[in-house]
Amino acid sequence: MKNTTHTFAEMKQKGEKISMLTAYDYSMAKIVDEAGINAILVGDSLGNVILGYDDAIQVTMEDMIHHAKAVSRAVKNALLVVDMPFMSYQSSVYDAVVNAGRLMKEGCANAVKLEGGVDVEEHIKAIVKASTPVMGHIGLTPQSINVFGGFKVQGKTIETAKKIIDDAKAVEDAGAFAVVLEGIPTPIAAMVTKSLTIPTIGIGAGAECDGQVLVNHDMLGVYSDFKPKFVKKYANVGEVMLDAYKKYDEEVKNGVFPNESYSYKMDESVLRELEGMM
Ligand code: KIV
Repeated sequence: MKNTTHTFAEMKQKGEKISMLTAYDYSMAKIVDEAGINAILVGDSLGNVILGYDDAIQVTMEDMIHHAKAVSRAVKNALLVVDMPFMSYQSSVYDAVVNAGRLMKEGCANAVKLEGGVDVEEHIKAIVKASTPVMGHIGLTPQSINVFGGFKVQGKTIETAKKIIDDAKAVEDAGAFAVVLEGIPTPIAAMVTKSLTIPTIGIGAGAECDGQVLVNHDMLGVYSDFKPKFVKKYANVGEVMLDAYKKYDEEVKNGVFPNESYSYKMDESVLRELEGMM
């Protein structure tokens, strides 16, 4: 059954945990969808894990639309959420509405996600008013790492914890259907989760959130440049790939691949006639 923003609300009411994973291409999204994950996020983390950038700052609307389209062709049941990249909404409420609309129309998203709380309350309100569901994202927001001075856990002081609580309230009041809590202490995430009626989706925010999200390439052990403490590796796909590539290289070089099983035959008489013509 197709997951919608209503599914998220119902799951929070029933106390059922929500699962979300990122995906950036057709084949991977198809497997994630088949696994029964509630939501697929085409995250701007694609800047790191797909495009090889150091951070998410350089990711463009065109990058997001390109990958969202590919993912949308695979998704049957998961709710498809697409990230609004850096400066596609911060610049103005107008830009926020227009670019959210592009992700829905051109990227085939079911909802958009954007970072920030109090500072983007008006932006969220306007996007929701334009019939586009919004997922908020607060705490250690990767598009603000230049302000934070790096990937630093947020909300450890009274002042920063209070900011997270205010941001969460602003996102809910603006009409978002859910909010991602990233890189914050478990007790703060628990307080926010209890105080909101919309579901919280945690990443590095402990077990008390209403759901969890991870970056696919992190949880599969494919992306090795950087591994935050909160990432659990569910598989070592990177090692499986490396072994397969090495074996292929070896078999090509010593003539083991391709053997007859991987080659096409043809009628002997046709071959002889052709040879006679040469
Ligand atoms: O871009 C992304 O993958 C995200 C998740 C880390 C929540 O925003």
